[in-house]
Amino acid sequence: MKPLREPRPTAAGESVFDVMRQEYVDTHPASQAMYLRAKLALAGGSSHNFRALQPFPLYFTQGRGALIWDVDGTPHVDHALNGASAILGHAYPTVVEAIRAYNPTRPGATNTELEVLWGERLKALFPAADLVRFTGSGSESSTLAFRLARAFTGKPRILRFHRSYHGWHDQLMIGNMAPYDQAPTGVPTSETDTVVAMSLDGDLSAVAERLAVGDIAAVIVEPSGAGMGLTPLAPAKLRALRDLARRHDVLFIADENITGLRWAPGGVQEQLELDPDISLLGKIATGGYPGGVVLGKQAVMEQIASGIRSTVGHSGTFNGHPLTATAAIATIEALVDGSAQRRATMYADRLKSALNEVFAELGIAGFAYGLASTYWVHLRPANAPDVGITPGVASLGGIAPSQLANGPLDISEALMWGLATEGVINSIFNGGFTSAAHGDHELETTVYAYRRVLTRLRSAGIVSAS
Ligand SMILES: Cc1ncc(COP(=O)(O)O)c(C=O)c1O
Repeated sequence: MKPLREPRPTAAGESVFDVMRQEYVDTHPASQAMYLRAKLALAGGSSHNFRALQPFPLYFTQGRGALIWDVDGTPHVDHALNGASAILGHAYPTVVEAIRAYNPTRPGATNTELEVLWGERLKALFPAADLVRFTGSGSESSTLAFRLARAFTGKPRILRFHRSYHGWHDQLMIGNMAPYDQAPTGVPTSETDTVVAMSLDGDLSAVAERLAVGDIAAVIVEPSGAGMGLTPLAPAKLRALRDLARRHDVLFIADENITGLRWAPGGVQEQLELDPDISLLGKIATGGYPGGVVLGKQAVMEQIASGIRSTVGHSGTFNGHPLTATAAIATIEALVDGSAQRRATMYADRLKSALNEVFAELGIAGFAYGLASTYWVHLRPANAPDVGITPGVASLGGIAPSQLANGPLDISEALMWGLATEGVINSIFNGGFTSAAHGDHELETTVYAYRRVLTRLRSAGIVSAS
């Protein structure tokens, strides 16, 4: 094991957060310079609120396998993986080859055989897909799914769960963040009448009661659990939700943007025989290129199957774009046998065990957990109530999903700075995704980075020592 590089001691009036932030600044000068330039052209110097880490985000130039290089030329172990899309690792050879062979004279916003092929591939993998419709993004997919569900059932509202993420359009913002029943700034208050946001803490009796009111068109879930799996959803609870929806004649929407082709080739619906009425895919299913996918049962999808005479409107200039289709088909082909997913999951399991050894060794009240090829880290801040965590023991029993989701932002930020200083990139929140390309080097680098950061947070009394 590599000896820990000593942190610079804090000076008078300086906190450990200040030191970690300064180390991050000192080790990424080209990104800092890029940010100063970027923020004069781009709002926040970025194109996505969650990519805009403060005091500046990193900017990247290339990715290969499990590594990405920033503009300083420094390689980082990547656990963000292009928004969770790169499960094969960056620049997977057959995907690169397919893009290289792409004919740029091919028309882009028209009907092509490539979108037909892409749809056929997805239909073969996802058992509940009678018909497919491509969209421009995951947010557009959920918007279309809600419209289809309302039109199909004649009911006005969608039931969704706190902190589950389905995109950023107005109605999707109700329930993303606390206060869950209020429209965030810029979202019309009338949207609070279109979506019912509920907690998944405890049993499902409140959900059953709400469904019994009779105004809900569809229930939408992230089958990983909210926040890309940050708050895992037990299979039994997921199935119970599906059964409740069926019992109340409510459509069941599985948002498999994260889980589709990651948990298994045919997503969680294949593993658990979920049989959703509508499923949403993106990220991996779009080969890491822009786009989104809605899959659904014949009767639901037929509402958009008659062109301009369809009962439900849907359009989008670049839906089913052949460049995205090219990357998607190559990606899906590399994932159909499930071996890449198994490699990514095995690495994630090794990483979680190694991180839990670090928690146990340092005696920090926290643990690593997560389903399939994801990993998350739960830390008990020193000022938080004791919920009986044994260091390094991933027991979620006594911890409600809402507690897992609401860790302090300053600790998450410090974690991102500390890890990036050591050459490790996390997704948002404390953790991220793994790929089939992650191996021993990535494991050692990541565990070293965590050991260093956690040691410092413990010494500064920021996280609880048990
Ligand atoms: C589960 C889930 N649904 C929907 C979306 C939205 O997709 P997009 O960012 O393509 O709009 C995301 C994005 O992270 C997601 O994780």
